Amino acid sequence: MPGLLSLVSSSLLVVQALLAAHGTHAQSGSLDAANPIVPFVDYPGMAAASAQAVGKPLAHGQRVPKCKSIKKRIEWRKLTYGQKKDYMQSLKCLQKKPDFGISPQYPNLYDAFVWVHTTNWTDYHLNAWFMPWHRWFVWIHSEAMEKVCGYHGPVPYWNYTADYKNLLESPIFSSDPNIGFGSHGRTAVNVSGLVGYKVDNGAFANMKLNIPVNHYLTRNFSAWKTLDPTRQYGIALGESFSPAAVTRALSADKFSDLEAIIEGFDNPLHFGIHNSPHFFSMGDWTGPGWMNNTQWFPQIAVAPNDPIFWIHHAYVDQVFWSWQQKPGKQWLFNGNFPWFDPTDNSAKATDILPFYGLGPNPPVNLTLKTENWPMCYTY
Ligand SMILES: *[C@@H]1O[C@H](CO)[C@@H](O)[C@H](O)[C@H]1NC(C)=O
Ligand SMILES: *[C@@H]1O[C@H](CO)[C@@H](O)[C@H](O)[C@H]1NC(C)=O
Ligand SMILES: *[C@@H]1O[C@H](CO)[C@@H](O)[C@H](O)[C@H]1NC(C)=O
Ligand SMILES: *[C@@H]1O[C@H](CO)[C@@H](O)[C@H](O)[C@H]1NC(C)=O
Ligand SMILES: *[C@@H]1O[C@H](CO)[C@@H](O)[C@H](O)[C@H]1NC(C)=O
Ligand SMILES: *[C@@H]1O[C@H](CO)[C@@H](O)[C@H](O)[C@H]1NC(C)=O
Repeated sequence: MPGLLSLVSSSLLVVQALLAAHGTHAQSGSLDAANPIVPFVDYPGMAAASAQAVGKPLAHGQRVPKCKSIKKRIEWRKLTYGQKKDYMQSLKCLQKKPDFGISPQYPNLYDAFVWVHTTNWTDYHLNAWFMPWHRWFVWIHSEAMEKVCGYHGPVPYWNYTADYKNLLESPIFSSDPNIGFGSHGRTAVNVSGLVGYKVDNGAFANMKLNIPVNHYLTRNFSAWKTLDPTRQYGIALGESFSPAAVTRALSADKFSDLEAIIEGFDNPLHFGIHNSPHFFSMGDWTGPGWMNNTQWFPQIAVAPNDPIFWIHHAYVDQVFWSWQQKPGKQWLFNGNFPWFDPTDNSAKATDILPFYGLGPNPPVNLTLKTENWPMCYTY
């Protein structure tokens, strides 16, 4: 498989380029309860919950709210047609809503999530903050979908492990105009070096996006079709998120071991449970080569442009959650904070995760149990 190996080494080259291009980031951010700009967030409640999560005494009058109910997330395929349709409409609805000043250069709440995810993105990728940060990010996005756009169905995850032998045939890529995420389309596009195929089918056909520049939702499944002509994803890409890969992740001892497996650091021929669908889809979902040779490289973190981002990350979170259900794992957290130094072991459960105005910045410990307020969900 020389083609695949060269793609693997290309993606390693990208990582090396990123390492070279970035200096250190100071650990930034603190609880921003004094600046409540997002109306669907309970800032005083979060200030209390954040204090409690790291063992600080509550101020007089501070109170941690209780969950009204614990919502169960379910696999995309188990949603009814009507729930899927509502979900798609609510996702698109975010493009019509104001962003509460989060992303001043971009006009809407959909973009605000992309903007936050591109802001200092190396602070919460490829390191210990990755899973807690993305758990909170997916949760707050589900809050926006519910409270701003009226989605009341279950929050879905996409169990792509069930599709590992042939990702291309996954029902999520359906071209149904109401419930399909669409496939990669037929029209090649190149907007200032952002290359791939315009998504021209499904619920997000011809979707216009704004970050880093106005363009259509773009994907390119060709790499995997070309490199794996017999569609034996079970040999190549699919092995990175097969049932065996999930079993291996769930047997991780420390949190940092789980993180390494999820992000594919532990095995040079595996892309990791998290990375594989990104690399499969390329385009907006950020595979190897996206933004390469453009003015925005190495700023490649526009992945939430693609609506699949949320159900994909909810599955990564489901694997994290499953691991946390093992005896003694619920509150484990350790690993590296500076993303460029895998040998660092300074990450702490008291670290404050930065969300750049998308609600308050929570401590890691507030993200570790999904059933606690404010997240109030389970799998
Ligand atoms: C990004 O990180 C830099 C370096 O730590 C910091 O100065 C800057 O304020 C951060 N950006 C935002 C929007 O917080
Ligand atoms: C995180 O929360 C758990 C459960 O309340 C607690 O046992 C642990 O001490 C907390 N960790 C920190 C660093 O405060
Ligand atoms: C995901 O799919 C695999 C393969 O069908 C199955 O074994 C596993 O239980 C599923 N996991 C979840 C969380 O849905
Ligand atoms: C895309 O267009 C840019 C010019 O904007 C050009 O430099 C680049 O080679 C093109 N890429 C492809 C794959 O055609
Ligand atoms: C799609 O990806 C393949 C493999 O990387 C590449 O050769 C091809 O030029 C890409 N097509 C478009 C339209 O960007
Ligand atoms: C990105 O471009 C560089 C040259 O600027 C090239 O060496 C590298 O292989 C490219 N990576 C990918 C994944 O296309």
